[in-house]
Amino acid sequence: MATTSALLALVLLASLLAGTVFSDDIVPIHIPLLDRFQAWQAEYNRTYATPEEFQQRFMVYSENVKFIETMNQPGSSYELGENQFADLTEEEFKDTYLMKLDNVASSPEAMALTVDTMNRAGTSGGSNTNEAPNSVDWRTKGAVTPVKSQQHCGSCWAFAAVASIEGVHKIKTGRLVSLSEQEIVDCDRGGNNHGCHGGHSSSAMEWVTRNGGLTTESDYPYVGRQGQCMSDKLGHHAAKIRGRQAVQGKNEGALQHAVAGRPVAVSINASRAFQFYKRGIFSGPCNTTRNHAVTVVGYGANASGHKYWIVKNSWGERWGEKGYVRMQRGVRAREGVCGIAIAPFYAVM
Ligand SMILES: *[C@@H]1O[C@H](CO)[C@@H](O)[C@H](O)[C@H]1NC(C)=O
Ligand SMILES: *[C@@H]1O[C@H](CO)[C@@H](O)[C@H](O)[C@H]1NC(C)=O
Ligand SMILES: *[C@@H]1O[C@H](CO)[C@@H](O)[C@H](O)[C@H]1NC(C)=O
Ligand SMILES: *[C@@H]1O[C@H](CO)[C@@H](O)[C@H](O)[C@H]1NC(C)=O
Repeated sequence: MATTSALLALVLLASLLAGTVFSDDIVPIHIPLLDRFQAWQAEYNRTYATPEEFQQRFMVYSENVKFIETMNQPGSSYELGENQFADLTEEEFKDTYLMKLDNVASSPEAMALTVDTMNRAGTSGGSNTNEAPNSVDWRTKGAVTPVKSQQHCGSCWAFAAVASIEGVHKIKTGRLVSLSEQEIVDCDRGGNNHGCHGGHSSSAMEWVTRNGGLTTESDYPYVGRQGQCMSDKLGHHAAKIRGRQAVQGKNEGALQHAVAGRPVAVSINASRAFQFYKRGIFSGPCNTTRNHAVTVVGYGANASGHKYWIVKNSWGERWGEKGYVRMQRGVRAREGVCGIAIAPFYAVM
């Protein structure tokens, strides 16, 4: 089957390059898909160096379109769509944008830092939801910077940490300042964090604490790859934090209480469906093995009472709901949807 469709794509490609026009009765199904692929290429400004690459990408695109259309069933709580990732296989997507989370808590140094910071920051963030309002949206309170893009780099962990710091900084000082992910990606080395190859938001907050602060996005702009640490910028402190606080894990009530106070960094499983999320309340499929870091900037429920978390992602504004995803809240599993409630953290000023 694969060979047949590969051949078909080659024929289509050859005709395309030769400027031949196929009539619909010769190839009734694939012509529209090829048109759609080319429209997508134009929309996302994607070009390929060779006809072979074009052919291979068209194949991948076709598979993804099939997946998206299969998932978009009537009655689903959310919708998938073609986005900037439509010509990537699941493996390529995972390798470039996601990460393998190793266990921070297993490292003795990380444990020591946790205890130390928690003492300094206090041990609040408990499970009392009595005072938490029914809905919160830190975007409407000006505590969330515009959606950013991590580009072709597995640095989501730095973006989630920075969004948490930006939030608490605005809440404490009244000023919303876009802060530098690149400083963390370049300079936080030798511990749990590995630049574009993954890391932990909680460790990044620790690093910012030890460094004494973090500079602005404009002072140390994001470039989408790990480079040499610009050490002359390490003393530019646009925002300072005292440490970071772990929220009680596997308890959506505790997460709600924490988010009522400030944006909170969480880790989730970003599955293939998540890759193509377009709108609605995301409810899986996904499991609780986490490979992506994002920031919860609020929560609420829609007019028919379906509860959700408002989650800021770092894949640009063209992904999801203008860069955000609403994720199902109040699920039966204590881990929350996609593991969202397993290990939340926030920065403390
Ligand atoms: C499209 O991509 C080309 C080649 O990568 C680049 O030179 C050009 O600036 C891009 N155009 C837009 C509108 O992004
Ligand atoms: C609320 O969300 C659910 C689940 O996504 C959806 O089925 C329903 O149509 C939504 N209701 C409104 C009023 O948007
Ligand atoms: C995320 O969940 C999906 C669907 O359950 C699964 O296929 C994928 O392997 C998970 N990711 C990780 C890193 O386990
Ligand atoms: C999630 O899915 C992946 C791949 O299917 C699997 O390796 C992993 O063990 C799953 N995690 C859980 C907690 O089920």
